Amino acid sequence: ALAVEEGVDFVVVGPEAPLVLGLVDALAEEEILAFGPTAAAARLEGSKVFAKEFMARHGVPTAPFRVFSDPGQAEAYVRSHGAPIVVKADGLAAGKGVVVAATIDEALDAIENMMVERAFGHAGARVIIEDCLSGPEVSFHVVSDGERYVALAAAQDHKRLLAGDRGPNTGGMGAYSPPPVVTPAVERAILERIVEPTLRGMREEGVPFRGALFVGAMIVDGEPMTLEYNARFGDPETEVLMARFGGDVLPLLLGSA
Ligand code: AMP
Ligand code: GLY
Repeated sequence: ALAVEEGVDFVVVGPEAPLVLGLVDALAEEEILAFGPTAAAARLEGSKVFAKEFMARHGVPTAPFRVFSDPGQAEAYVRSHGAPIVVKADGLAAGKGVVVAATIDEALDAIENMMVERAFGHAGARVIIEDCLSGPEVSFHVVSDGERYVALAAAQDHKRLLAGDRGPNTGGMGAYSPPPVVTPAVERAILERIVEPTLRGMREEGVPFRGALFVGAMIVDGEPMTLEYNARFGDPETEVLMARFGGDVLPLLLGSA
């Protein structure tokens, strides 16, 4: 309503919640051009179950996983699998819905917290339980119009709250670019094995992805494994990406929209 009232002719939708709730779709109904994915395409971020099953359908490398909607079955799986193991709430949880559990008890607590106590509300109705990987993590952004894409530079964010890599994990306290782990070969692998099959898969499924696609990847023995997608520019990664962009970003955003 505000965009209509103010005669706005281009909207860049930044955060995940309005994307997942369909702000881009609502703007399209008003014939207002917007940068960002539709609600259907933003499910790559909004539902980890959708994202992981999509990766499995399209051969995008990611940690082996199972989906659970029953806490008892999730607990039984954790006990049979052993630790370390990773428990993820399906829905949006402001970066707090992932527990990398070092022990079986920690994983069982995470299941209780997400599925029974519903610490993240409906986002915990289903959980993903996946194998624990280890390696350096990188953030890789592309901007796509649904068919073509422009790759931005790789970046890495500092996840721990405190200096010296101490304190709890966060959504990112700061970032730098380029991260040395992303050699030209690693970058090519991210593009060919993750980005391109993802954009192609979304087109094939009838939900072309327009906007900024953020791939969170862990480099395991030189091979990128997909941890997650975000359907938007990363925070704080974008601060360093824009500092390095060295041009006018508006044509890129308009081209995507
Ligand atoms: P996500 O929101 O799925 O990217 O998970 C948040 C954080 O949890 C990631 O940035 C990683 O540090 C960690 N993480 C996620 N999945 C795994 C995994 N399979 N193995 C190890 N760490 C993980
Ligand atoms: N820094 C990761 C994110 O924006 O979610």
